[in-house]
Amino acid sequence: EMMREITGISEMENSLKRILGVSKVVIVPGDSDETPLVKEEIGKATADILSSCLDKDNIIAVTGGTTMACTAEMLSSDIGEGRNLIFVPARGGIGEDVKNQANVICATMAEKTGGLHRVLYVPDEVGLEVYYSLLKEPAITEVLDMIKSANIVLHGIGDALTMAGRRRTSKTAMKKIIEENAVGEAFGYYFNENGEIVHKVPTIGMQISDLEEKPCVIAAAGGKSKAKAIKAYMKGAPKTTILITDEGAASEFLKGH
Ligand code: G3H
Repeated sequence: EMMREITGISEMENSLKRILGVSKVVIVPGDSDETPLVKEEIGKATADILSSCLDKDNIIAVTGGTTMACTAEMLSSDIGEGRNLIFVPARGGIGEDVKNQANVICATMAEKTGGLHRVLYVPDEVGLEVYYSLLKEPAITEVLDMIKSANIVLHGIGDALTMAGRRRTSKTAMKKIIEENAVGEAFGYYFNENGEIVHKVPTIGMQISDLEEKPCVIAAAGGKSKAKAIKAYMKGAPKTTILITDEGAASEFLKGH
């Protein structure tokens, strides 16, 4: 019985890998929509993959969200042994609650691994004038340079409407997200079913085009409710992306394939 279940999962991993055309897919058993423990398992699997991607010197760009927060909790000091780790937020403020912000998650990741972290404090709502003067601040340009040179990117994928609802999203942006039929979100970018960008939270830091040149990109997202989002986002994602997901999302994704 156990064996059959394991085989089922690795078959799903292979199918997803083939359909997405990516190098690696990891599926953890269960559905994180129904069982919170499954999100912790995704976090654990993500931490393991991160560990396997590390060089001697690492700059790891990290996004926000509950899945990344779970991943942070699963990191331990052994992955930092004999290595230099610096965690940096991938992008500036995108309207999340503090606990889901990349700044906080990076601090936890550094603490857990004995590494370092940087913060990128960009207020969510600033006028253009303030915005452009922030870009001249050495403390900010230093972090932006680090984001540019990151060798690893660690990110979540969200359901578009869930994310827009959870964040401080303006009425105009909300209208656009709904009218353009956005289904997925990552890095503050919103995607339609064809994987096209329909809205982007205006902030500094990593742009989606920067992903292509990163040697290691790790995406972590699970739950049946995220199947469409994962499908949409992965359409345009770099083929080097390693996807960590769960059975709930994977089996929904594979329906009709
Ligand atoms: O940036 C946030 C992610 O897109 C999804 O967040 O892991 O809480 O679902 P989550």
